[in-house]
Formats: sequence, structure tokens, C-alpha cells
Amino acid sequence: MQLLDGKYLSKIIKAEIAEEVSELKNQGKKIPNLAAILVGENPASAAYVKSKIKSCEQVGFKSTMIKREATITEEELLEIVDQLNNDDDIDGFIVQLPLPGHIDELKVTMAINPDKDVDGFHPLNFGKLAQGLPCFIPATPLGIILMLERYNIPTAGKKCVVVGRSNIVGTPMSILMSRKGKVGDCTVTLAHSRTKDIGKECLEADILIAAIGKPHFIKADMVKEGAVVIDVGINRIEDESSPTGTKIVGDVDFDNVAPKCSFITPVPGGVGLMTVTCLLLNTLKAAKLK
Ligand code: GUN
Repeated sequence: MQLLDGKYLSKIIKAEIAEEVSELKNQGKKIPNLAAILVGENPASAAYVKSKIKSCEQVGFKSTMIKREATITEEELLEIVDQLNNDDDIDGFIVQLPLPGHIDELKVTMAINPDKDVDGFHPLNFGKLAQGLPCFIPATPLGIILMLERYNIPTAGKKCVVVGRSNIVGTPMSILMSRKGKVGDCTVTLAHSRTKDIGKECLEADILIAAIGKPHFIKADMVKEGAVVIDVGINRIEDESSPTGTKIVGDVDFDNVAPKCSFITPVPGGVGLMTVTCLLLNTLKAAKLK
């Protein structure tokens, strides 16, 4: 069993991005600038945005953090989106999800200029992804593709099972894995809460991608010997042995599943770090496209 080390790979890719930023600087060109809108006090969202801003600093990007109370109106938020759309200094921006219940997430996402949509959540980017056209690929699926590519894991003709059908991870991931390409050409099953026998589907997977958001959902008896297992889950559970009383675990029962795998991503230290790094890659791409 070999670990797919997101920490190691992120470090390498961030160094490559930093190199490109130096070149841009040397050529007297503009430094990429990512803006992030954070609404409310959701601790997980605050932690994610903090990590995105910190990563910008690490590679030499500019970043702009816009924090607003949960009481902000939809109209006020759309006004900020409009300002960022029209701000030439901002290359790309994200609106951290989830948003408070009184705000229509789709309406906000659709208000983002697709050329600055570095999350790749706008339906125009999603549609382009589905048709194999150049677009911003959402950061988590892009991170998984890069992991498979950089670790030279063969995918053509393999059976890939994606568990979870979210717009952000599961659905785009299933499309990318079925698409023609260096990473792709798989026969894909997209399993979800209404799938009749999830265990049976998973057992057939050469490549199993778990993006359900349920701690330790994937057990050893659901995994084929020699499978490649990608764990997208970031779940906080109680842990009496930890000083904070909690710990982060994935959607995969790592300790029991890992011995059966050819490759597996750890949590933490796997896909999560790649997500942040790929947001930087998308921001660099947005800056270069301008
Ligand atoms: N919420 C959970 N993941 C993400 C993400 O990748 N981008 C945004 N904007 N919100 C999220």
C-alpha cells in the first residue's frame, strides 16, 4: 500500500506556482489576486478561507478577504459580487459555501463572472467541463485528477466508482473520470443515497472515490483488493484522546481499508490540501487568461 501524499504533492505544486509568480514579477506583469467572500461564523468555512488566504501568501499571490455578518441581505451580497466582477485588480474570487439559509446560493453563484469563477461552480463552467471544453475545473476534482496523474496511476479502462453526487465533487468527478484524457477513460458508476447496494458497487471499483461526508462510511468489506481509494471526506468526530476532544477523519475507515489498497489518500494530509492548491492553480490560470 502506498499513500497518495497530498502534503508532499501540494508543496511541489505550490513551489511551481511560486516560480511562475516570480517570472510574472520579473516580466513586470501583474501578480495574481484572489478574493474570498466569507459570510457568517461557520467555523469550518472560516478555517477553509483562512487556509486559502495563507496559501496565497505562500506562493506570492495577493489576496483580498471580504468578511460579512450572517445577516447580510442577498442584495448586499450580490452587490459585492458585482464589484468584484468589475474590479480589474481581482483575477478570481470565491464565495465560500454554505451561505445562510435566506440567501439563494445558485443566484449568487450565477452572478459571478465565469471568467473569474475560480471555484468552477458557475453553470457555464460546469457545462463546459461536461463537454470537455477549456474551463475552470472545481478545485477538489482537479486536485484528485492531479494526484492520479502525478503518481502515474493508470485509469484507462478501469472501473471507477464515485460515491456522492454533489455539484462540487461527486458529479464533476464522475464526468472527469469518464472523459477522454491522460487521467480518465474509466467506466464510471456514480453511487448515492438511493443506490440499491452501495457495498456491491464499491467492491467492483478499481478506483473508489468517496465524497459522501459521512465518517468512516467505506468499510474494508466494500473495497476490492488492490483498489485505489481516494477519500474526499473531512469529518470532525469526537475523540477523547485528543486535547481538543475532536479529530478529523475521512469517509473511509482508513485503518481497516488501507491494507487492502494499492494506493490510498490519508485524512488529513490528502485531498484537502490539494483542493486549496488547485484553487491557486485556477487563480493563476485566470490571471494569465486576462
Ligand atoms: N464549501 C466547501 N467547499 C467549498 C469550495 O471548494 N469552495 C467554496 N466556495 N465553498 C466551499
